Amino acid sequence: MNSIEKGSMKRGEFLRSLGLSTSTLMAFYCLGTTMTACGSKNDDPNPNPDPDPNPGTGGNGISGTTTGNNINFTIDLTNSSNTDLKTAGNSKIIGDVLVALSTTGNYVALSKKCTHEGNTVGYRKAQNDIQCPVHLSEFTLTGAVKQGPAASPLTAYTVTVSSDGNTLTVKA
Ligand code: FES
Repeated sequence: MNSIEKGSMKRGEFLRSLGLSTSTLMAFYCLGTTMTACGSKNDDPNPNPDPDPNPGTGGNGISGTTTGNNINFTIDLTNSSNTDLKTAGNSKIIGDVLVALSTTGNYVALSKKCTHEGNTVGYRKAQNDIQCPVHLSEFTLTGAVKQGPAASPLTAYTVTVSSDGNTLTVKA
């Protein structure tokens, strides 16, 4: 008969006495040593750093109403989330609005919703226009239909650039 004296047997001896395999024993060791001996080491003193490198500007640098019928928002172009909008030919969907800096250097803001069946349109740098990728309707930068099947223009919003060029205001 196998008897185990309480307190006199080490954990490994005890586990082996139960007839467990080496891999099962390793699992026990890992659980008992808070994973540090098993290669799952996390030395980062700040494992959940703030994802926002610029917290003073309101998170992603966008504030105001970006959806619905009362579009009225500002975009901080110095915020790292938006600096790409300082480069001609780039665009971004913000809420219900497609904002682009055209290849000719003008900011435009249009409803992202195609007037055909409501899919999301996109800015095309090469053509300097707007296209819906679903049924290939095309729109000018003022929102006018260039090519159907869409029959109605995209809603265009007013874009104002601050004097320092760092803030865009988009309004219905
Ligand atoms: S939904 Fe845009 S072209 Fe059909």
